[in-house]
Amino acid sequence: MPRQKIRTAVLISGRGSNMIALAKAAQNPDYPADILLVISNRPGAPGLEKARNSGLATATIDHTMFNTRCAFEEKLHLTLQGAGIELICCAGFMRILSPWFVRKWPDRILNIHPSLLPKYKGLVDTHKRALEAGDPEHGCTVHYVTDEVDGGAILAQSRIPVLPDDTAESLADRLIEKEHALYAAVLSDIAAQTGSGI
Ligand code: GAR
Repeated sequence: MPRQKIRTAVLISGRGSNMIALAKAAQNPDYPADILLVISNRPGAPGLEKARNSGLATATIDHTMFNTRCAFEEKLHLTLQGAGIELICCAGFMRILSPWFVRKWPDRILNIHPSLLPKYKGLVDTHKRALEAGDPEHGCTVHYVTDEVDGGAILAQSRIPVLPDDTAESLADRLIEKEHALYAAVLSDIAAQTGSGI
């Protein structure tokens, strides 16, 4: 009997291009993950409409409506549990997840970060920081989420050269294509290794 696909949710805050890349990859019948839910913490995130247009179920959990990070994360956790989610992919999700949440989902949260970790951790300006440092190459990383921000085990990286006339925008534009391919490949590997029912 074929193995069941791993039940996956994608967390977004904005444009959602990585989320769409994962959803497209998951349309392949042989892909080992199903994208069953897209959750945004921002009601106006453009990725929400893209997800709905792609036939994906969506939910909005607006963090500004909760008094504490804990209350927001409890709602997030219950929503994920309610949908029977087994694996979470953060894709441009611009909220730091607390140790409480991360412990509820051990080795079940992936993130993509637009730098060659351990360089340039944190939420902002990774392309600018790579340029200012004079790095000869830049890249992206898919890693497990732990309670250390951008500090979990690295699963895979993609690299691009930094060209003499690069700006933060041109680097971001070239890197995002690498992000899409890398994230879809890593999710496939992790889902295939883990299998459903973890
Ligand atoms: C991507 O570049 C992703 O790596 C980055 O935000 C962008 C989201 O784009 N994530 C982070 O910076 C997380 N710290 P998308 O919404 O089009 O996928």
